[in-house]
Amino acid sequence: MSVLECIRTRRAIRDFEERQVPEEVLRAILEAGRLAPSARNTQPWEFIVIRAPERLTQLSRLTSTGPHLTKAPLAVAVAMLKARYPEVDAARAIQNMILVAWEHGVGSCWIGNWDAEKAKALLGLPADSLLIAVVPFGYPREGTRVARKKQRRPLHTLVHREAYGTPYYKEGAGAGTPRGGS
Ligand SMILES: Cc1cc2nc3c(=O)[nH]c(=O)nc-3n(C[C@H](O)[C@H](O)[C@H](O)COP(=O)(O)O)c2cc1C
Repeated sequence: MSVLECIRTRRAIRDFEERQVPEEVLRAILEAGRLAPSARNTQPWEFIVIRAPERLTQLSRLTSTGPHLTKAPLAVAVAMLKARYPEVDAARAIQNMILVAWEHGVGSCWIGNWDAEKAKALLGLPADSLLIAVVPFGYPREGTRVARKKQRRPLHTLVHREAYGTPYYKEGAGAGTPRGGS
């Protein structure tokens, strides 16, 4: 699968099969996170692998937007200890992990809304750390939203020529056809 195809087809997955994600696939996912770029190459992330169902359940009680956590065979929590751009660095690592998971047929869905102090305590994280996300991973259950069309703004509404306000692409033109181009 090409990188663009992986990006194009990936969907947030919130319902999973019961089968486990093999250790070698998990390792590829974590490796993708490890290899992410970060400001000044500080690599300020810590990844916590959570497989214990009771821990996933406990964590799910600390978010209002992550009921799918209890359906996943595993999750990875991403925390930042000391970082200048914690959200930016973390997002690059998390997206790497999510895309490599997808390449292996494994779905995921970022959960970002936490009762942070309680979640950090549960995960044994230092008080001054930042919990960015907990990402459940698992094989998509048949019939999940994967088949639904991806909802995204078309390029002609968001790409500008030289300065904001002049569309780079014509409406309705193929994504690769600049305004005035062929
Ligand atoms: C920073 C961030 C936080 C998110 N938080 C949640 C969340 O707490 N719960 C959830 O179900 N999905 C969450 N998502 C997933 C988005 O809702 C989802 O990616 C978006 O609707 C687009 O759908 P798609 O990923 O299928 O293309 C989050 C995504 C991002 C990037």
